[in-house]
Amino acid sequence: MTLPDLTIRPRRLRRTAAIRRMVRESALTTDDLIYPIFVDETIEEAVAVGSMPGVSRIPLADVGAMVKKVAAAGIPAVIFFGIPAHKDAIGSEAWNDAGIVQEAIRAAKVAVPSMCVIADACFCEYTDHGHCGVLHGEDVHNDETLCNLQKEVTSYARAGVDIIAPSGMMDGMIGAIRSALDSEGFQQVAVMSYAVKYASGYFGPFRDAADSTPSFGDRASYQMDPANRREAITEALLDIEEGADFLMVKPALAYMDIIRDVRDATQLPLAVYNVSGEYAMIKAAAANGWIDEQRVVMETLTGFKRAGADLIITYHALDAARWLQED
Ligand code: PBG
Ligand code: ZN
Repeated sequence: MTLPDLTIRPRRLRRTAAIRRMVRESALTTDDLIYPIFVDETIEEAVAVGSMPGVSRIPLADVGAMVKKVAAAGIPAVIFFGIPAHKDAIGSEAWNDAGIVQEAIRAAKVAVPSMCVIADACFCEYTDHGHCGVLHGEDVHNDETLCNLQKEVTSYARAGVDIIAPSGMMDGMIGAIRSALDSEGFQQVAVMSYAVKYASGYFGPFRDAADSTPSFGDRASYQMDPANRREAITEALLDIEEGADFLMVKPALAYMDIIRDVRDATQLPLAVYNVSGEYAMIKAAAANGWIDEQRVVMETLTGFKRAGADLIITYHALDAARWLQED
């Protein structure tokens, strides 16, 4: 048998572990990770989230210890989600200066002053109907929701937040937030926009965790259609014009092409949200012994970096940080 002359052999660069390290094109570090924390005003002790093994809702009293754990793992940032004791039609608890997220921000800053504290800014956890803003009939009223968003984010700023992350997909939300923060003297507070957020089935476990499932209908009139690609760039460019400091694509795993598109079309730091359903799938398969959890998690997170992400919001953050350290 004769073979053609193989002058070029890519396997030469895969031959030893040292050479593989030398030619590796992307890397995951703990600096890239952001850990989500659910703070629940209605509980005294941590409550496990059934569909997200390893994740709990925690009471305010546990926030300091949790943030210390995140800092000890070398992770630079947390993002808070609040579950309030009182919900109403407009989500007014979201701008209570003594609200659960405001208190969590203060507790985090006391426990670890150097921690970067991010607050998700939306209303679905605060409204009794579970939609992301003020309803007119069955529709979320964009501009009235923006007015409430301005109250919410300035309240978070007074509590000492570093970064506001609005997740409601309202038109003009970044401009409204930026002007509210600036007019109250919070020019230094940054905005990480959930610029490209799809109406996704992958949010299911989160809605259990945050008690934010809409009581009727869905979020398709504000979150994006999963079939759309060009619209992602429209959304990202609008948010840049309105003053965003970071952009985000969410979910991540089914939207790798979008992550790459946004990376190539823009210059801001880009975060991706490795959402609850993505986490639940890996945990469920691993619990069944069907996949190697560590290997699949690290491959997934590295994939986000390769696709163009700078930052990854992930429930795997504490595990990933430990695995990176052991390496
Ligand atoms: C609230 C919000 C959601 C998530 C983050 N912020 C849920 C939703 O839009 O229904 C999802 C996070 C996850 O699934 O891990 N607007
Ligand atoms: Zn919401």
